[in-house]
Amino acid sequence: MSAPRGQFSSKLGFILAAAGSAVGLGNIWGFPTQTASNGGAAFVVVYFVLAFLLAYPALMAELIIGRHARANVVTALGSISRNRLTHWIGTGVGYYGVIIASLILSFYTVVAGWMLAHWFDPIADVLGMSAASEWLTTNSVSRNLLAGGLFALVNMWIIARGIENGIERWSTRLMPMLLAILVLLIIYVLTRPGAMEGLTVYLVPDWSRVTEPGLIIDALGQAFFSLSLGVGTMLVYGSYLSKQENLPGIGVIVTLVDTSIAFIAGLLIIPSIYVAKHYGTKIFTETGELIAGPDLIFQVLPTLFESMGAIGLLVAFAFFALMTIAAVTSSISMLEVPVSTAVEQTGMSRPRATYLIGSIIFAISSLLIFNFPALFVFVIDLTTKYSEPLLGVAFCLFAGWVLHRDKLLAELREGSPQVEKGLFWKIWPAYVRVFCPILILITFFHSVSG
Ligand code: PHE
Repeated sequence: MSAPRGQFSSKLGFILAAAGSAVGLGNIWGFPTQTASNGGAAFVVVYFVLAFLLAYPALMAELIIGRHARANVVTALGSISRNRLTHWIGTGVGYYGVIIASLILSFYTVVAGWMLAHWFDPIADVLGMSAASEWLTTNSVSRNLLAGGLFALVNMWIIARGIENGIERWSTRLMPMLLAILVLLIIYVLTRPGAMEGLTVYLVPDWSRVTEPGLIIDALGQAFFSLSLGVGTMLVYGSYLSKQENLPGIGVIVTLVDTSIAFIAGLLIIPSIYVAKHYGTKIFTETGELIAGPDLIFQVLPTLFESMGAIGLLVAFAFFALMTIAAVTSSISMLEVPVSTAVEQTGMSRPRATYLIGSIIFAISSLLIFNFPALFVFVIDLTTKYSEPLLGVAFCLFAGWVLHRDKLLAELREGSPQVEKGLFWKIWPAYVRVFCPILILITFFHSVSG
């Protein structure tokens, strides 16, 4: 029983949607703060190398399986299998991916709710509503439920509208906006006193740290999360891509956009921290580390905005708009994973599946809000640290071993007829079968035992 499938209407639409999924809080918040606490530009270099060496091949595995099977993650992994055992394992891996994507969305919604509340705060300030402003910026169960709930509704509203009218349309509108806000904010912050000190911390590498296993593990985890890998997101987006497109080329563009936006987000966040320092804000923890968690976004940066006077309200408004937009285009891609599965497995209508599943996921978000931070931290670790890399290995193994070599080549040839003459085909198939899974596993066991 299958409902008619949607499709992206253009290559640009697909690239913006996939880049929108990849570019999220992981780029704008995670990447710059990881860089600052891991030896500055040395981390940036390791991250770029790992993103292209390990994350790009895994991204290709997902895109190829998805476009080949033209189905949700469960059906796709099940249907490319040649025997009962791999069919059964593939279906299991697919369901596990659906669960992990949903759990990532459940905590992402909570964080996005914080961003949304802070986005509204400057408006409350301008209108002189000080009680509202106080409520919006104070961490409380009621605020987190309402703001997270509003964010979840926006997310469901977009996904209910489908691929072209929902995902593609909104990614195409929001991504250029995101880039414009990011660039304007960077230009403004770099002209503030103290910014140059931050730029130095960010861009002068401390090479002595490059060989630390901790740094490599952090960079790999960051690369997987940032490219939305391991949970079937890119697989399902790939399943809506036209057969005419050249997959290896599109994968390179998406990886480049994601890593570049992470890099330029660093040009905003790290200098901002040092501008705040210039104005007397404490930016280091008791143990001498740079403040990186929620305190950075919701305490250090707001004191910076306040020090800017009236224009600070505008800057705060733009900054939290940026964060919210980045979160929306990523969240829709997470919700698409369970929704596409439900629609195609049960024949339920898309809007119905969306609002049903979206509500269940928001119920989980509410549990996280009520049990903050213990359950929240547990879910983040379970999904990003333990599940994403292992699922990434599974996708590589399925693309490398289960999907037949001839089928792989046939799939790639449709959009790039000369593919077997190129570098990609010479390296990638062996790479994704053996090197990628081994390297990901080594890094994973290092991090689990460390
Ligand atoms: N890539 C997103 C980010 O950087 C997060 C994400 C993970 C999105 C997994 C979809 C799936 O914030």
